[in-house]
Amino acid sequence: MSTLSSSHCSASYSSTSNARRQRSTKLSSIPKRFVPVKSARNSYQNVVLLQDVSSTIVPIENDSTLKKLKDGLLSATSSEECEDVVGFDSNDKNSTVSITVVGASGDLAKKKIFPALFALFYEDCLPEHFTVFGYARSKMTDAELRNMVSKTLTCRIDKRENCGEKMEQFLKRCFYHSGQYDSEDNFTELDKKLKEHEAGRVSNRLFYLSIPPNIFIDAVKCASLSASSANGWTRVIVEKPFGRDSESSAALTNSLKQYLAEDQIFRIDHYLGKELVENLSVLRFSNLIFEPLWSRQYIRNVQFIFSEDFGTEGRGGYFDNYGIIRDIMQNHLLQILALFAMETPVSLDAEDIRNEKVKVLRSMRPLQLEDVVIGQYKSHTKGGVTYPAYTDDKTVPKDSLTPTFAAAALFIDNARWDGVPFLMKAGKALHTKGAEIRVQFRHVPGNLYNRNFGTDLDRATNELVIRVQPDEAIYLKINNKVPGLGMRLDRSNLNLHYAARYSKEIPDAYERLLLDAIEGERRLFIRSDELDAAWALFTPLLKELEEKKIIPEYYPHGSRGPVGAHYLAARYNVRWGDLSVEQ
Ligand code: BG6
Repeated sequence: MSTLSSSHCSASYSSTSNARRQRSTKLSSIPKRFVPVKSARNSYQNVVLLQDVSSTIVPIENDSTLKKLKDGLLSATSSEECEDVVGFDSNDKNSTVSITVVGASGDLAKKKIFPALFALFYEDCLPEHFTVFGYARSKMTDAELRNMVSKTLTCRIDKRENCGEKMEQFLKRCFYHSGQYDSEDNFTELDKKLKEHEAGRVSNRLFYLSIPPNIFIDAVKCASLSASSANGWTRVIVEKPFGRDSESSAALTNSLKQYLAEDQIFRIDHYLGKELVENLSVLRFSNLIFEPLWSRQYIRNVQFIFSEDFGTEGRGGYFDNYGIIRDIMQNHLLQILALFAMETPVSLDAEDIRNEKVKVLRSMRPLQLEDVVIGQYKSHTKGGVTYPAYTDDKTVPKDSLTPTFAAAALFIDNARWDGVPFLMKAGKALHTKGAEIRVQFRHVPGNLYNRNFGTDLDRATNELVIRVQPDEAIYLKINNKVPGLGMRLDRSNLNLHYAARYSKEIPDAYERLLLDAIEGERRLFIRSDELDAAWALFTPLLKELEEKKIIPEYYPHGSRGPVGAHYLAARYNVRWGDLSVEQ
């Protein structure tokens, strides 16, 4: 079998024609002052400026004119044409993208954002004219920033050609500006520098806020008032935490909206950028065999499992204020659940998908305390090595009750999912690292082979596993006859193991998301009503846990987590798939 891959940037997209078509619909998000002139593949480049706009941020709207343009364009753009487009139109001399990483010296910037930008550059996915600015309080020269950034850049393992040369070219496009996050003057200086690099071209500006949430608003205000683009788009990527509960999240959204239109805010949930999460909809909606089974009629339960084999070392200060429910469940796992459980969207347009996700979130049954188990890791000595307890971290109060583990049973009260338990489990300092979705199917009614399975019929049901990471795979556990003259059955896997099937290195989630933000594609970003619905589900539970000072169940560092998680699953007749003998 051959793969539909190609060596250029477009190969980083799903190679189904649907997905390509979906890419080509992103014009819905282009400000109406722009008209497309060429391929829709890279929307912001294929535009001409119709009218001048003021330097303040103008809300972006969709209207019927734009829809007509988009539709016309869709019919004129074949999927093959899209696949043939190499990254950005290299002849486009008129526009430029300036990416400012606010909080450039932080961990996220160093480990994820700069490397992702380099990877995009390496794959020819960035436009011809782009610059990357690091912005932070510390004093640093351009050379020092380049030196810092260079330490975390890597080239694709499947394509090492010109690695050093490409790195050098990329670093030449990186600059630094030192400034306070709440200083309009400092952002005005940045604006001046950006303008110099933009050299009179249409300026498009992306700000990535890689800073603590308490300074989000200051930075957004200054960026918006003093460093917005005068003639192109201005977008801001914000990363969680988006508040601690419904109230603080709403307050953050309201403050952001004083300076930005909703269309300019890109709330990132990096789990949505992971390859297998992206693939979830492809798997379900473009294979006949799955969608008919995707309901209470055939699915017994669904499990969303996240585990890390290390603790919160170094991040205790942040983590203690949030805990695992806010850190992982309310966003990463819930987003995957919404994608998993949504109805078929009208199209692959961002708004259509997000509309369906919100419906799922709003159909969820309020979470009950008895449907939740929380845990915290304690110190453990293994093989002569002592692993610390959560509260051994100096930045964590000794009496902290913050959960580092949680398991929950959730229900979606709609026609499709009535009564199906959706179980979530997330933990730090567990025995393994991974993220997966497990779909356990019902028993085969009147199964002729029941007696071959012994008494444990649950073990014989089909299970679909989507292993998001590490070692990406999708496999389906089936019952199979062991070859031979007898009639012995065993459990085997129909296995799509990515490393064996695809030679291409899987892009990091941040690459996809940054590219989408540059292209104005909002599908993988969280809309404010999605965020509200996610908080509405978890806020009452979080308040109850905190008010009642519920004591977490302590589990040894490096173990399989609290035993309470098994009881919780058992209450709904579920076994955690990741802990079964045959995984
Ligand atoms: C972040 C959480 O959102 O996701 C971290 O704040 C967690 O606590 C991280 O470690 C996990 O991301 P990944 O991509 O490494 O699985």
